[in-house]
Amino acid sequence: MKLINGFSLMNYALEKGLLLPAFNTTNLEMTYAIAKGLQEANLPGYIQISSNNLQLSNPHIIAEIARDAAAKYDIPIALHLDHGRSFEDVKNCINAGFTSIMVDASSLPFEENIAESKKTVEYCHFYGIPVEVELGGLKGKEDDIFSDNSEGKTDPDMVPEFVERTGCDLLAVSVGNVHGLELQPHIDIPLLEKIHNLCPVPLVMHGGSGIPHEILKEARKHGLLKCNFGADLRKAFISSFGKTYESNHNAHDVISLSLDAVENVSSKARELVSMINTTDSSL
Ligand code: G3H
Ligand code: ZN
Repeated sequence: MKLINGFSLMNYALEKGLLLPAFNTTNLEMTYAIAKGLQEANLPGYIQISSNNLQLSNPHIIAEIARDAAAKYDIPIALHLDHGRSFEDVKNCINAGFTSIMVDASSLPFEENIAESKKTVEYCHFYGIPVEVELGGLKGKEDDIFSDNSEGKTDPDMVPEFVERTGCDLLAVSVGNVHGLELQPHIDIPLLEKIHNLCPVPLVMHGGSGIPHEILKEARKHGLLKCNFGADLRKAFISSFGKTYESNHNAHDVISLSLDAVENVSSKARELVSMINTTDSSL
């Protein structure tokens, strides 16, 4: 099916009581693998690419690949800009056909974060595209950028004003979640609950990789609509090549290695989307 508009995807998930995974892609193989994993699980979600990754992948090319990947299947998929770092990136992605946007001005002081976020929201809403914004800072590694940012956790008292003044559609929070697999997440469920009670829009959990399943299932009860996974899929992709190379330094069949990598990534995506939406207490 066609890539779906971000508002439609959010409404679909809200109606069905689903938690949407947002899987980071880096290249063609990962993009196809994510769509395949979602289809195999028969659950909707996002393909997303971060601003950092746009150094490698032109948004028009990624959008074309994502359209092709989504067209192979019949589950709803939106294409999201993750951690949009500049207004230029936002505009390029809207032009390329992205159907959902994040602006990440969380490292700026409160008023500047509001101003940047609001500017993006106004621009994107003109095109009928929803916007995720972030309040609070996450530690860890996102693509090649390591952050020891320590704005710290989201302050619940700032949430109502932030959401109202930015006009955002989704709020990414910092509640002990971290990017990457090198640091341990310590999810503060009472803080998440407090934010949820004060926040008029659905919440987003970044740094989904490495969060224990039972914690994610608990977090899901507190207003989460979107959960991002990057490192888990990158690891599935890289390890396919790494294992073969370790066993044979002369291996060079890139096609079959890439096909194996697609299988590994799609099965990881399928496992994650099923896990966050299961009601089975054994998982
Ligand atoms: O924005 C993307 C993510 O927050 C991914 O985090 O690599 O820890 O899963 P992760
Ligand atoms: Zn993130």
